[in-house]
Amino acid sequence: MIPREIIDEIVYRNNIEDVISSYVTLKRAGSNFKGNCPFHSERTPSFTVFPATKSFYCFGCGAGGDVISFTMRAENLEYVDALELLAQKSGITIPKDKVDAPTGPSRKRVLEMNLDAAKFFRSCLFDKNIGGEAMKYLTETRQLSTSTIRRFGLGYSPNDFGALTNHMHKLGYTDEELTVGFLCGKSKKTGRTYDYFRNRVIFPIIDTIGNVIGFGGRVMDGSEPKYLNTSDTPAFKKSNNLFALNFAKANAEEQLILCEGYMDVIALHAAGFENAVATLGTAITPSQARIFAKYTKKVIITYDSDNAGQAAADKAMRYLAEVGVEVRVLRLSGAKDPDEYIKKFGKESFHNMLSESKGSFDYKLDKVIISHDITQPQGLLRASAEICSIIAGTYSSVEREIYISTASKRLGISVDSLKADVERIQRQRQKEQAEKQSKEAYMSVKSINDRVNPDASKNIKASAAEEAVLGLMLIFPECRNGAATGKIDVSEDDFSTSFGKRVFSAICELERTDEGFSKAMLGQVFSLDEISRIESIEQKRSTLSNSKEMFETCVQSLKQSKSSGDDDILAMFEKKRLEAKKLRESKASK
Ligand code: UTP
Ligand code: MN
Repeated sequence: MIPREIIDEIVYRNNIEDVISSYVTLKRAGSNFKGNCPFHSERTPSFTVFPATKSFYCFGCGAGGDVISFTMRAENLEYVDALELLAQKSGITIPKDKVDAPTGPSRKRVLEMNLDAAKFFRSCLFDKNIGGEAMKYLTETRQLSTSTIRRFGLGYSPNDFGALTNHMHKLGYTDEELTVGFLCGKSKKTGRTYDYFRNRVIFPIIDTIGNVIGFGGRVMDGSEPKYLNTSDTPAFKKSNNLFALNFAKANAEEQLILCEGYMDVIALHAAGFENAVATLGTAITPSQARIFAKYTKKVIITYDSDNAGQAAADKAMRYLAEVGVEVRVLRLSGAKDPDEYIKKFGKESFHNMLSESKGSFDYKLDKVIISHDITQPQGLLRASAEICSIIAGTYSSVEREIYISTASKRLGISVDSLKADVERIQRQRQKEQAEKQSKEAYMSVKSINDRVNPDASKNIKASAAEEAVLGLMLIFPECRNGAATGKIDVSEDDFSTSFGKRVFSAICELERTDEGFSKAMLGQVFSLDEISRIESIEQKRSTLSNSKEMFETCVQSLKQSKSSGDDDILAMFEKKRLEAKKLRESKASK
């Protein structure tokens, strides 16, 4: 474990608002800062940074914590690795022997291992005896130049169960490290490790800092599966990375091209489109959409022309629009993907196609019109219903007006009729939304969805009392101290949820150390979701008018609540429902 004084120093030197503002545009709001939450999609900022308590909390999605847990979330790192990153940023050296976590290889070790593996794969590709066929496949069948092969660090994994394993053993890597890093599998029968990638051309996946974080491996014939990919490891999460972003980020400002495959990206880069990236063997995820938003204003999607590709394009459009990126779609005709298109028609032709890409509404409009016979009344009805539904989902009223006018021309239906239908759909959706919200209020009362504290639903009064006590302990050192030293009579046994018990004893234990309590230490014991909950307990409490004098009263009601049962969930729900109804009515009358 990293020594406490070093953790404190890391937190001290990494000002939370400075660290977060390198990920999120923050605007001052009183003594705090606000911005759009990097952990969920939102249009109005509910993500708040509290410099005074060195913490953050999102009132939209409930993510919260300190600078360490922020870094863990933002960079997808484990506790120790987040500390290391923050230490690096602020010029602190963590003593070497203290870093090695007892559980499995660190991210750093996996990255070293990947780099060594990438070098091995490359040397195999360039060895005529071993990689001759693979080189022929890449240069002849796929028409890649040697410089492109070198630039992307392509390689070849020999047709052998032990080639990489033996090589890595010689370099000092253990079987455990090799399997955790997903370079080796482990035989169930013999327990022996064996090479995971065999007889495949290898595409290293490199992050924006230049680390080799994983690999894709393609067969050279028609066998299955066509690609193998590294699964998630301590150094890699598929859903948080994009292939070739390490190159594309330098050319991303104006636009990025999103395609489906490794080979498409490589062909595009080789043809001079150095702003192409791909997802890693999965459909686009919301966190990848946010990566796009971080690097660019506009994304041109050019997915395969098959049905799967087009369905994936719809999803990509939605996620990208949600994070405020302008989306255009390029439908290639005469070729199944960009790689094939460039080979057939050349790069100039692809360049021209780029400027003919369509905005997402025009693209959807085309699709709807193609799929119905709008010369017939029934077809026209269905097409216009689909289009009105798409327009109703558009946030900006200016956009809606433009789309209605376009649709009116294409369908031959008056602007007024389309507009009336769009508004009717919008009203219907608002109503559904309101119903959904009141259902969620019910769920939150019953805590049906509470994964972090599943016991809370068993005794709502008690869990509210627990939160009051814990909130005060998090805010006021005097309350912590009173509880930890026994000056105030409260113990783990007074808590009824196991989460409450754990938080209480963690705070007390830390309080009793020489250095005292620090939020920074919670990451050693609690998961990110649990830390968010702890932050939310503190935030909820700090919005009330508080004083440390209330602590004993809260402790009393905690003790009482434990004995009393909980028979009024439904009464509480009824109350919430009435409140929500009142709120709706008062909004409607305004
Ligand atoms: P494609 O089948 O379109 O492959 O899958 P491709 O990249 O165009 O490859 P070539 O041109 O046939 O060589 C698109 C992407 O989907 C993922 C890979 O990331 C691939 O690049 N994929 C595909 C897999 O992860 N596993 C598979 O078995 C197939
Ligand atoms: Mn392809």
